[in-house]
Amino acid sequence: MKTIPEQGLDHAEILKQMQQYGSGDVNYHDSKTWSLVYHLNEDHTAFLKEAYGLYFSENALNPMAFKSLKRFETEVISMTATLFHGDKKVVGTLTSGGTESCLLPVLTYRDMARSKRKLAFKPEMVVPESIHVAWIKAAKYFGVKIIYAPLKDDFRVDVEAVRKLINRRTILLVGSAPSYPHGVIDPIAELSLIAQQHNLPLHVDACLGGFLLPFIEKNGVSVPEFDFRLPGVTSISADVHKYGFAAKGASTLIYRNMSYMKHQFFIDENWPGGVFASPALLGTRPGGSFAAAWAAMHALGEQGYRENARQIMDVTGELQAGIKAIDGLAIMGRPNMSVFGYYATDSRVNIFAVGDQMEAKGWHIDRIQRPEGLHVMVTPGHVKIVHDFLSDLKTSVELVRSNPDLAIEGSAAMYGMIAKLPFRGMIKKEVMKMMEGLYSPQGSMPMEGDDNPLMVKIAARIMQRFGKKVN
Ligand SMILES: Cc1ncc(COP(=O)(O)O)c(C=O)c1O
Repeated sequence: MKTIPEQGLDHAEILKQMQQYGSGDVNYHDSKTWSLVYHLNEDHTAFLKEAYGLYFSENALNPMAFKSLKRFETEVISMTATLFHGDKKVVGTLTSGGTESCLLPVLTYRDMARSKRKLAFKPEMVVPESIHVAWIKAAKYFGVKIIYAPLKDDFRVDVEAVRKLINRRTILLVGSAPSYPHGVIDPIAELSLIAQQHNLPLHVDACLGGFLLPFIEKNGVSVPEFDFRLPGVTSISADVHKYGFAAKGASTLIYRNMSYMKHQFFIDENWPGGVFASPALLGTRPGGSFAAAWAAMHALGEQGYRENARQIMDVTGELQAGIKAIDGLAIMGRPNMSVFGYYATDSRVNIFAVGDQMEAKGWHIDRIQRPEGLHVMVTPGHVKIVHDFLSDLKTSVELVRSNPDLAIEGSAAMYGMIAKLPFRGMIKKEVMKMMEGLYSPQGSMPMEGDDNPLMVKIAARIMQRFGKKVN
């Protein structure tokens, strides 16, 4: 077991060591990654660090003590609400990220329903199959049954199926703008109508699209309506730490009016520590991320966001055209923005083997399942690598097509198995074991040179249990 050093160490020494620890991390600076980091440029990052640093110690737990932070929060929410065509009644809170902005509406609408219907009931929410996993977490945390509505061939939710799944236990409908796996916007206008007909709240998860879609639209490109222009939409989540290019730890959760948001507030008047009130999930709320969110929006301005949106969508267009031009590949559905999946149309091309080949060429590739494919999330930095990426992708596809064995080697076989294995409970069990290992006293330090993603290791363990030889 490690212990705190007896004597404090030299700052320079500590920082040097920390930098060394990061040397094996995924390198997003070269734009060979497609997720996790929304990096604009080094200047912007340096500015965000400065803004964050100015309010490094401040705590938004008490808005009376730090009026500056309350001001940042109010203004970020107000700017975002304007972006979503909200009127003067629109209210909201800053949260720590997309997950918190998806967790809270489930709690809010559950408690709102409970306050209206006095009788005990088991609440349910109807969501598209493509909904972000944060909603599944929310359902689990807050005891709400999740009811999945199927997708149509274009990967948008089937609204007629949603209508049929509504019953007297339903407390909430959710749609995405856009969904994470396929980057398509659900038919929010139709969901809005259904929500109004059934007098149900409708939340739009725009964690990904909230700070991009409005600027694509302002640039003159048609975007299906997803915001408060639709009367049935009661709340929207949008992450400033994604396409808002703020520091991590900042998302917005915006409600049409206070009659909804008041159910989110937590108040305990009897706590021995004093009367306690909190607007969102966290207790201590980091001032730095509030400050950096406010600073990012002011630094970029509408013109900056529009220019980023133009660049991002140009790169997306080039990538999609390039992928479609590769014999044996196609794009999933018709994505509305810069996030999309692509898959193999030729049975001789195993898409996960293509992923392996790309990894061997230094790309960090995300895999998706149902349907099996690879995933892209474009940021401005990708402008400089489009041609290299497409050229490597073409070579990889050709190599996989002419070497069928590549599909049964390496991680391709593992990802394939994970996607197809009918015993999903077994995968869950193995993942649990992995998590226990990862978070055991020694578990936080992966072995040197061990670059295998978690899923590959899990698949390897399952295959071993079946007595198969694993590479
Ligand atoms: C649509 C959507 N909702 C919610 C989230 C969760 O966001 P976070 O990772 O910031 O918690 C994501 C993350 O990618 C997302 O794409």
